[in-house]
Order: sequence, then C-alpha cells, then structure tokens
Amino acid sequence: MRKIAVIGAGQMGSGIAQTVAQHGLHVMVSDIDLAHAEAGKAGIEKALTKLVGRGKIEADEAEAVLSRITPVADYAPMADADLIIEAATEREEIKQSIFESVGKVLSESAIMASNTSSIPITRMANYSPDAERFIGLHFFNPVPVMGLIEVIPGLATAQDTTERTTAFAEMLGKQVVLSQDEPGFVVNRILLPMINEAVFVLGQSTAGIVDIDKGCRLGLNHPMGPLELADFVGLDTCLDIINVLYRTTRDTKYRPAPLLVKYVEAGWLGRKTGRGFYDYSGDAPVATR
Ligand code: 3HC
Repeated sequence: MRKIAVIGAGQMGSGIAQTVAQHGLHVMVSDIDLAHAEAGKAGIEKALTKLVGRGKIEADEAEAVLSRITPVADYAPMADADLIIEAATEREEIKQSIFESVGKVLSESAIMASNTSSIPITRMANYSPDAERFIGLHFFNPVPVMGLIEVIPGLATAQDTTERTTAFAEMLGKQVVLSQDEPGFVVNRILLPMINEAVFVLGQSTAGIVDIDKGCRLGLNHPMGPLELADFVGLDTCLDIINVLYRTTRDTKYRPAPLLVKYVEAGWLGRKTGRGFYDYSGDAPVATR
C-alpha cells in the first residue's frame, strides 16, 4: 500500500494521517470542506513542532512528514488510493453517506476501512460498493503514541482484505488484535463498562472525581483514571459507545450512568469543550466534584 486517504480530520483522523506520514506514506485528508481538512493538517504541524522542540525528531524530518500530507476538498483525488480510512463522526448516517460517495470513485482493488469504535462492520459494508473489501480498522487515541490497532473483518470481508489491512497496521509499527464483529469489539467492550461504572460510583458519592481517578491510576497502574480518560475520549463518544452496547445486546449491565447522560446534555463533553469531569480553563485541570 502506498497511497492512503483519511476521511475526517478531527482528533482521530489527524492522528491517523500523522502516523501514516511518519511511516513514509503519502496521505490525503478530507473533511466537510477544504478549510477543515487544512485545519487538521495545521494541528498535525503543531504536534510535530512539539516533538521537534522536545528533540524527538529533527526539523527536516517534521517537514518531510508534513509534505506527505495533502488536504483535499473532495473525494475525486482518492481514485488512486490503495486504502481509504474513514474516521468521521460516530454517526451511522454520516458514515453511510461517506461510503456511498467515496465508493463511486474508489478503484477496483482499494480497501475501504472504518475507524468506527462500535458500529457493526457487517452492516456498514452494505454502504460500500464491495463488502469483500470493507473492514474495521480501529485506532486508539493518541494514535501516534498508542501501540494497538484492532482489525475487524465483517461477515463478507475477504481473507485477502484482512491480510492486507493487518500488514498495513503492522507497517505502522502497531500490534494487531483481530476481533470478530461484535459490539465494542474487544477493547471498548471492556473499557466502556469500566468508565460507565466509574460514573455510577461518582453519582452515588462513593468517592469524588480525584479519588476515583487516583484509585485506578495507583491501584491498577493505569496511566489515566477512568474519569480523566472519559474526558480525553469525549463524554459524547463514551455515551454513544455504551448506548451501542446497551441497544445491541439489550443487556441492562450496559445501561448508561444517569450522570453521564446529564453531563452530555449539559454540553460538558470533556477536554474538547473545556469542561467535563474536570474544568480545563486554567493551567491545570480541576475536578468539578
Ligand atoms: N505524536 C507523537 N508522539 C506524541 C504525540 C503525538 N501527537 N503526543 C504525545 N506524544 C508522545 C510524547 O512525545 C511522549 O513521548 P515520550 O514518552 O517518549 O517522552 C509520550 O507521547 C507521552 O506524552 P506526554 O509526555 O505529553 O504525556 P503523558 O506522559 O502524560 O502521556 C498519554 C499521555 C499517552 C495520553 C497517557 O496519559 C496515556 O497513555 N493515557 C491513556 C490513553 C488511552 O487509554 N487511550 C485509549 C483511549 S480509548 C480509544 O481511543 C478508543 C476509542 O474508540 C474510544
């Protein structure tokens, strides 16, 4: 695979594009318009400048990485891409419209992958022109740092597609976990109930935010506590995923914590809105409960 396209220039799409370019491949990035795609590239430039400042990479290397990233206004230039990775908002109707549009320009051998965190791959494959070349490719945030990619073949995905996609993920220096197409795949199926339970613990005043996070950081050796991680992922995304688990399995153990629903309704979505379980308006995050 030599030419990659990423659809969606947000936190995940930008992280994927950066990682791909850092591994020597050319990557096109699109979003709802060229300005959003360019803003994604500007964010990558900022991340690379930080790495240069810390002496992690050389300035000319950062420049070379940036030169391999091309923001595009529409899907037409993706006609010669070998792999298209969709990393748009976690709403099925948005993803459907993307797959249907980009499917029209896709080459006969290109693979179409979705970075969905929880929507069934087998169902979304129907929105693409060829379900045999459709697959789940689930990255973790921050993409350039995290060592894992989940590869999720749908029911109709061809073995060759799974093998080529796995080889691509390994070429990015990541380890691969192969998951069946079940709700939440492997990691989110385990992570989201933990985050949700932490919000129940908070809602029942068993402990405050700082102690819940401290407990998991020190007691489990996790780099972040579940509530700071929820803020990092985005509380709306957490609620979307736990709701998918709840609706698809109809198992009440996945019912969303009422306090999580309230925070999302308040627009307190975590770091991206400046407030979630922590307030990010000052120099250091401050717990709100
Ligand atoms: N590009 C390249 N390297 C980067 C980077 C970037 N954009 N951002 C950070 N880094 C590097 C830094 O240079 C640093 O490298 P070093 O260890 O060699 O010095 C390293 O990453 C750590 O960065 P920082 O020192 O800035 O920050 P921390 O040490 O506090 O670590 C963290 C930050 C990596 C986010 C850590 O707290 C962590 O691992 N948290 C848990 C993250 C996690 O669980 N992610 C999964 C979320 S779930 C998910 O994504 C699935 C989705 O579907 C919901």
